[in-house]
Amino acid sequence: MKRLLLPVGLLALALGAAGSGDAWAQGDVIAQRKEEMKRSGAHLEAIKKIIDAGEAVDPIAPRAQEMNGYFATLATLFPAGSTENSKARPEVWSDRAGFEKAAANATEAAAKLASAAGSGDKGATAAAFREVGASCGACHRNYRAR
Ligand code: HEC
Repeated sequence: MKRLLLPVGLLALALGAAGSGDAWAQGDVIAQRKEEMKRSGAHLEAIKKIIDAGEAVDPIAPRAQEMNGYFATLATLFPAGSTENSKARPEVWSDRAGFEKAAANATEAAAKLASAAGSGDKGATAAAFREVGASCGACHRNYRAR
């Protein structure tokens, strides 16, 4: 099952695609990043439920850690030319520094969320959660077509 690929495999796939420029590998990398984006969306929903219910926040930490790992490698899942069947805007490649900065901001926000949740602090967790959500939106606004 593709969606259960471990991050290590994911990274290997991304690096392979970036190196070869092979169309088939690029199709894989596009599918992979979409899958990871969807997983992040599912994480956000699950995290929101926990926060809205006022439950203990420590189960949020592993979800935030997974997002942190994904965002740290996110840019490698967008090799040049991987545009087929994709909503990535040309700015992903023409404004690479901005795209990488948006990914770095999301990486940092997810790390903050993981540590807030790990500490059990509900207020800090809720605040960090909003930051993660904002970091998704900030990137989508500039780099994802509607
Ligand atoms: C650094 C930029 C960036 C960040 C950060 C980011 N995304 Fe995305 N996201 C994109 C781009 C670009 C696409 C379009 C990918 C494609 O179609 O190839 C996308 C696509 C998606 C999709 C659609 C996937 C599909 O099935 O086509 C979802 C859902 C999504 N993102 C959720 C999220 C969530 C939730 C977060 C934050 C927790 C997030 N993204 C953070 C850039 C980003």
